Amino acid sequence: MCKYIINSGNKIEGTLKLRGAKNAVLPIMAATILNESISIIHNVPNIADVLVMIKILESIGCKVEYNDGTLVIDSSSINSFNIDEEYVKKMRSSIILMGAMISRFDRVKISQPGGCAIGARPIDLHLKALNCLGVKINEENNAIYCFRDILNGSEIVFDKISVGATENAILAAVKAKGITKIYNAAKEPEIEDLQNFLNAMGAKISSDNNGYIEIEGVEKLSKVEYSVIPDRIAIGTYMVSSVITGGKLEVEKIIRPHMEPICNILKLCGCEIEYSKNGLYILSPKKIKAIDIIKTEPHPGFPTDMQSQLMALMAVADGESKFFETIFENRFMHCNELIKMGANIDIISNKICKVNGVDKLYGAKVRATDLRGGASLIIASLVAQGETEISDIYHIERGYEDIENVLRNLGADIKKE
Ligand code: EPZ
Repeated sequence: MCKYIINSGNKIEGTLKLRGAKNAVLPIMAATILNESISIIHNVPNIADVLVMIKILESIGCKVEYNDGTLVIDSSSINSFNIDEEYVKKMRSSIILMGAMISRFDRVKISQPGGCAIGARPIDLHLKALNCLGVKINEENNAIYCFRDILNGSEIVFDKISVGATENAILAAVKAKGITKIYNAAKEPEIEDLQNFLNAMGAKISSDNNGYIEIEGVEKLSKVEYSVIPDRIAIGTYMVSSVITGGKLEVEKIIRPHMEPICNILKLCGCEIEYSKNGLYILSPKKIKAIDIIKTEPHPGFPTDMQSQLMALMAVADGESKFFETIFENRFMHCNELIKMGANIDIISNKICKVNGVDKLYGAKVRATDLRGGASLIIASLVAQGETEISDIYHIERGYEDIENVLRNLGADIKKE
């Protein structure tokens, strides 16, 4: 199994140019099932999760081409209602295919996605949403069988905010008869991107950006060409990589409201951030200030997907920081790996941990426990004294396109073995 070998000592600085957001492109790829035609999608990152989604779409009969960041998907001849278990096991977010498939066909079979490193990841809210629209659901032999006659527009009230369940509800409602009203929907930028993509296909979706989404069902959707939004989490990850090394970074393309929850926190630890017409500049402080309380929340709060990366930064900050992880029940697995590198972290519970900044971290042999946890180890290794070896890097390569070259081009001493 491959690993990253990283030596510290260099500043991470220069100009960052990345492709689109993993968590936007995956639901958008599922949505291409709906127009029974061609979808051209630009700014698509070459990451493992996208390659898995391509395989899934091909396995049900779509024709897919992917060249240099552009996907061309022809969903006119789908010939299967079964999303294979091997794919769902590889990528649990393939569960959003359920909503797209049941919108187009009267049935779909998909295996239970199961939990993953960061939590149990139940899908009760997904199933409740489809139920509201008239879908009959049987769960047996670790699979979910969905059937429906007509999909009827309905009121869907989520008692908990869920990105994936909101996406499934939207995908299933786009061609339902009548109006669907969704309350307490997730407001992540990736949801807005999915809405914009579907509207570009001819859907009729509006939202008040306060958790309310209204969908007027349409009969037909058409060919579409679209470009995916920048990846706020990948950008935030490289910003933190630069800050921990005392660097300065220019980010070419951002959408400011998507970045503000991350930038506001980085300003609290002393960074100077300036927005340009399409991008931003970030300058590191001489001394990284600890942040008293860091709480992960649904957008526009501080994103849970940036929690572990920020923790690596707080591990060398001046003072004590407390992390409250309110979204997932097991998203502190990176802590023990950071502790192996000399971080002073006290895990109070599965939702709270205390970080006391230390003067030095030390290179060590560590293991990526999950996608963002692995990114936090890379960040820590950029300032750790001595060599760091990170194994299980397949987690990291699920969500960061060519991270080794991106970091090397910004000054990092990193190699893959
Ligand atoms: C999406 O996951 C993202 N993944 C996650 O990013 C992100 O961390 C998460 O949203 C929160 O922002 C993709 O978009 C592919 P949720 P999702 O449903 O949709 C509970 C990354 O690092 N819940 O919003 O699975 C759930 O257990 C990944 O890129 C239920 O209880 O997240 C969690 O505690 C990691 N029942 C909370 O809601 C349900 O039916 C939020 O989960 C669904 C969710």
